[in-house]
Amino acid sequence: ASGLAVAAKAAGLKYFGSATDNPELTDTTYVAQLSNTKDFGQITPGNSMKWDATEPTRGTFTFTQGDVVASLAQKNGQLLRGHNCVWYNQLPSWVTSGNFDNATLTSIIQNHCSTLVGHYKGQIWDVINEPFNDDGTWRTSVFYTTTGQSYVATALRAARAADPAAKLYINDYNIEGTGAKSTAMVNLVKSLKAQGVPIDGIGIQAHLIVGQVPSTLQANIQQFTALGVEVAITELDIRMTLPSTDALLAQQKKDYQTVVAACKAVSGCIGVTIWDYTDKYSWVPSTFSGQGAALPWDANLVKKPAYDGILAGFA
Ligand code: G3I
Repeated sequence: ASGLAVAAKAAGLKYFGSATDNPELTDTTYVAQLSNTKDFGQITPGNSMKWDATEPTRGTFTFTQGDVVASLAQKNGQLLRGHNCVWYNQLPSWVTSGNFDNATLTSIIQNHCSTLVGHYKGQIWDVINEPFNDDGTWRTSVFYTTTGQSYVATALRAARAADPAAKLYINDYNIEGTGAKSTAMVNLVKSLKAQGVPIDGIGIQAHLIVGQVPSTLQANIQQFTALGVEVAITELDIRMTLPSTDALLAQQKKDYQTVVAACKAVSGCIGVTIWDYTDKYSWVPSTFSGQGAALPWDANLVKKPAYDGILAGFA
């Protein structure tokens, strides 16, 4: 029998994977499927490598939770995507309220990224997460406000110095289709490359809505890889307004197929990760009231039509 990861490799990708999170790892049925490497050749920790989890106090690092996910990946023989070094969200208050000057915050970023990436060597890393607003302007954050755009280069250089073998990504949402935000990403990567800043990839999160996969997805992946970086779909899920119906599940199957086929069609698109694999543990219902059913396994861990959609996309 085939599987999602088997199909991804056969299609020329490096991996198909899933996010997971520490609380779910007590669910043995869940873990057994997550560890099935025919379906998942890669995992991403949904929360446990974020700043609030890893450096809750300045200079004091706690890798306990992240290590649980890293060990599971290693035990299973799965790739790991580190997520993430620098993001405006899930920051400890000592970072957001420290009133650091540019030089001090720059050294804090360097120390955070180099310690994190140095601890989890040989991985793919979302070094920068969600730097832009939807209109393509820079997102306000403690980092941007204090250092301007330079925090991006600071973090990437620190990550490269800590682990020359790591693949370094900038990851964002609403950069699936062409448009102002994707253009901003193109311009950022061009400018980083022109300055000799290390950048290996663009992560397209792909938190999508059933029936609304952007028609320019493949062209957009193409314009990203044309910059000389790889692309990964990093957080794919395709939500719907509940309750799910046969018609919505059929459209969702098509949508998963469309996304996967777009990645397959562009040689620099190296992997696809879903943002957990079962509706039981999706972030969607708690964030978007009345929406959900976004993943290829239902809340009882039964495969939905979307599973076959992914296989069809890779075929
Ligand atoms: O850790 C606390 C815990 O102490 C407390 O008891 C509990 C009560 O609600 O909350 C826990 O924190 C939650 C955290 O996940 C860990 O479970 C937060 O409330 C909750 O908001 C947080 O949600 C995460 C979200 O990022 C935060 O922005 C989701 O699980 C996670 O899937 C989601 O992932 C993001 C990516 O990192 C970036 N792209 C978008 C994606 C979806 O939002």
